[in-house]
Amino acid sequence: FKAAAELMESGELHFGPNRLQDRHTPATIAEGFANAPDTDPALMANIAWAEEIAGRMKESTLGTNVVDVISTPEEIEDVLDRVKKAQVKWAKKSGKERAAVLRAIGQGFENHRGELIEVAGSEAGKLFDQGDVEVSEATDFALYYASLAEELDDLDGATYKPVQTTLVTPPWNFPMAIPAGGALAALAAGSGVLFKPAYLTRRTGALLAKIMWEAGVPKDLLALIDLDRVHSSSLGEQLVREADQVILTGSIETAERFRSWRPDLRLFAETSGKNAIIVTPQADMDLAVRDVVTSAFGHAGQKCSASSLVILVGSAGFSKRFQRQLVDAVRSMKPGYPWDLSTQMGPCVEEPRGKLLSGLTQLGAGERWIIKPERLGDRLWSPGVRTGVKPGSEYHLTEYFGPILGIMRADTLEEAVEWQNAVEFGLTAGIHSLDTDEIGYWLENVHAGNVYINRTITGAIVRRQPFGGWKRSSVGAGTKAGGPNYLIGLGHVEPDFSGE
Ligand code: SER
Repeated sequence: FKAAAELMESGELHFGPNRLQDRHTPATIAEGFANAPDTDPALMANIAWAEEIAGRMKESTLGTNVVDVISTPEEIEDVLDRVKKAQVKWAKKSGKERAAVLRAIGQGFENHRGELIEVAGSEAGKLFDQGDVEVSEATDFALYYASLAEELDDLDGATYKPVQTTLVTPPWNFPMAIPAGGALAALAAGSGVLFKPAYLTRRTGALLAKIMWEAGVPKDLLALIDLDRVHSSSLGEQLVREADQVILTGSIETAERFRSWRPDLRLFAETSGKNAIIVTPQADMDLAVRDVVTSAFGHAGQKCSASSLVILVGSAGFSKRFQRQLVDAVRSMKPGYPWDLSTQMGPCVEEPRGKLLSGLTQLGAGERWIIKPERLGDRLWSPGVRTGVKPGSEYHLTEYFGPILGIMRADTLEEAVEWQNAVEFGLTAGIHSLDTDEIGYWLENVHAGNVYINRTITGAIVRRQPFGGWKRSSVGAGTKAGGPNYLIGLGHVEPDFSGE
C-alpha cells in the first residue's frame, strides 16, 4: 500500500497495483494501510507481489513516463501528429524491412517471456501456463505478420497503400496476445499505431510497447497512451473519430458505441460470444468432460471463446452419467491465485458485479445448481455449474464472462444445434461425438466463426486456425486475425497503372 501511495504521489500511478487505483487517493491508501486488517493472506500476497513487480519495472529501463496519459483534446492532436509524421517514414520502408523489425519483436517477446508472464499474472490473474501460451501466440503473430508484410511487396498488378493511424484497443483478458496481434498487424501493414492497453492491464501493455520500441519500432510510430479517467469517454470518442481505423477486441456494446460516434468508421472488431459445446451419446465421455471443463473454466471463463453452455443430447440416463462425471471433475479443480502453482483456476480480474454477479448467484426458472459457486476471497470464486437451463432463457442467451457453466438437455442433435445457434453471437462452437454422420450434420448447420470437433473450443492458433466470429461476434470489415487476409485489409489496394 505504501509503495502504491508513493507511486501515486509522484505521478507514477500507472505502475501501482491496479486494484487500488480507481477508488483510492494516496491519503486513503495510507489510511487503509494503517487500518488494514491483516486477515486475508491471499490479498496481501497479491499486493506484495504486484508491488514487487511494479518496483522491478520501475527500476528497469521501462521508466515511468512512457505512458502518455492524455487529459485534453489538444494532447490527442499532438499524439496523432507525432504518429503521422513517423508513419510517413515507416511507409517508405519495404514490407521486407518492416518484416525484419517484426521478427526482432518476436525475439524480444521470447527474451522477456518470464517478465511478461509475471506482469500479466499480477494484473490479469493469468496462470503461468496460460501466460506462457499467450507469449507464444504474441510471438507467432510477429513472425506470421512479418511474412505477410513481405508478401505486400509482391502484390500483382496493384499498389498497396497503408493508412496513417490505427487505434488499437485490446481487452484485459488476453493482455499480451491480443494487443500484440493488433499492434503488430498495423505496423506490418505500414500504419502508425495509437496503442491504448486496457486500463486494468496497462503495465503489461507498457512492457509490450517497450519490447517493440527496443526491437526497432520508432517511439513516435507506436504511441502508448492511457486516457485520463475523468474524461475517458469524450477523449475516447475523439480518438475514434480521428484515427484512420480502429482494431478493437471488446464487448459488442463498445463496438456499437464506436459506430454510433462515427458510422463510417473503418472498424475491425472482435466482440462478444455465447458459446456452447454439444455432447452426444456417441462421444468419448472422458474426453468430453475434460474439454468442457477446460473450455468453461480456463482463465475462470474470462474468454470471449469460453464455453458457458454444454448441450447434452439424448436420454436422461446419458445426461445423468455425464453430469456425475462433470461434477467430479469440476470439484477437483483448485481455484486460487497465479503465484500458487497448485492453482487450476485463477481469479476474476474484476470483482464480479452486475450481470456476472447475477449469473453467479441467481437461477432462472427450472434451473438448479449442481455446484454452487462461492466467493472464496478477493476476486476469487469457485466454479459454478447449473443445470436445467431452458431454451430462450436469460442464461441461454447471455454472455457472463466468468466461471459459470450451464447445462441444457436436448432430445435430438437437430434441437441441440438449433439451441447452439439461437444466440445472437457466433464466435466459437464445439461438438463431441465419434460419429461421423453427426459431425457432418453439425458442420453443415452450425453458425459460428470458429468450430471445434472433439477438443476444447478456446485457443485458436495463428495461421493454423485464424480467429474471427460470425453474426454479432464480429463488427466491421475484418477478416480473421492470424489469417492470410488480415493484413491486406488494413491498408488500401489500388490498381497500379504506372507501367501503362
Ligand atoms: N484467440 C482466443 C482463443 O481462441 C480468444 O481471443 O481462445
